Amino acid sequence: MTLKIGIIGTGVMGGDHARRVATGVSGARVVAVSDPDTGRAERVAGAAGGARVHADGLALVGDAEVEAVLVASPPDTHEAYALACVAAGKPVLCEKPLAPTAGACLRVVEAEAAAGGGRLVQVGFMRRYDEGYLAVKAALDGGLLGRPLLVHCVHRNAGVGPGFTGGTIILDSVVHEIDAARWLLGQEIAAATVLAPRRSALAPEGLDDPQLVLLETGAGVLVDVEIFVSCQYGYDVRCEVVGERGTVSLPEPAEALVRRQGLRARRVSGDWRRRFAGAYRGELQAWVDGAARGGIAGPSAWDGYAATAAAQACMAAVDARRRTTVELAPRPGLYA
Ligand code: NAI
Repeated sequence: MTLKIGIIGTGVMGGDHARRVATGVSGARVVAVSDPDTGRAERVAGAAGGARVHADGLALVGDAEVEAVLVASPPDTHEAYALACVAAGKPVLCEKPLAPTAGACLRVVEAEAAAGGGRLVQVGFMRRYDEGYLAVKAALDGGLLGRPLLVHCVHRNAGVGPGFTGGTIILDSVVHEIDAARWLLGQEIAAATVLAPRRSALAPEGLDDPQLVLLETGAGVLVDVEIFVSCQYGYDVRCEVVGERGTVSLPEPAEALVRRQGLRARRVSGDWRRRFAGAYRGELQAWVDGAARGGIAGPSAWDGYAATAAAQACMAAVDARRRTTVELAPRPGLYA
């Protein structure tokens, strides 16, 4: 059986997902796309072998041939598309963040829980499919390290485009660390504090970069995140969990060791697309398989809600310049 997918938003991520469906994932085909930039939509539709182009994302959700929907449009459009998919009973893989506010995410959670048909929403926290993160998770769950006490995370980008703000850093980038910490520890984030050292002179105008985010979980684990989006040298993600009996670290991506001109060197990934290529493929295959058998199991709407709620607390902590707590609604049984 081939799952017929519609893609809403055919920019960087939507275009990449379409290519992966065509070449890296089995059991699926892109049959429809939608983007206000119709030229872009038509290029992706053509590359997908002649998919239909809808002028409007909601019309794509209503397209009878579309069995499952991939949402890769800007975050403030996700809620409406996710709600439409839930109302139509169609599985949806929604890029992160599920929505820019906890309130909007909660409306998706409540709609999915009220629909009573099981899980339909998966959120694009692809790190959960990265081999390195899976190895860290397996070591923690194996219990040999004792109880986790601390998590040290680093998230560095060589640079970012114009329009990146402090809020974008948190909602776009730190949200991955928030989800990874919640998933690795199996705990919710309870409070956040954000500090900034002196600003890099190479940071975009008006952006405090780098920043240090300190998250506290409900069980008392501390998670520190260095976020530095204009580090110049490449894309670098690190994670170490410190337990009572030992530590576990994210392995460095496999890169050849080159000896040349007096240097012994390994390449650093240029961006997240190369670094997490395997994770994106794994995420998509898991969603396709889950949608085809009627049992989505990846990161849930609740995970999307809890991550955005923690991200919002970080943003509030920046504004108020003090520790801010995260208040979560009761978790519906669907996400137990
Ligand atoms: P992009 O700007 O390259 O693409 C977004 C596309 O959505 C554009 O083609 C735009 O015309 C279209 N669009 C705008 N308004 C729309 C609407 N109302 N309905 C349908 N389409 C609309 O952005 P990018 O980088 O592809 O990001 C898309 C989503 O993917 C965002 O939520 C972003 O946070 C997420 N993302 C996730 C990553 C991950 O690692 N999981 C990495 C990068 C982005």
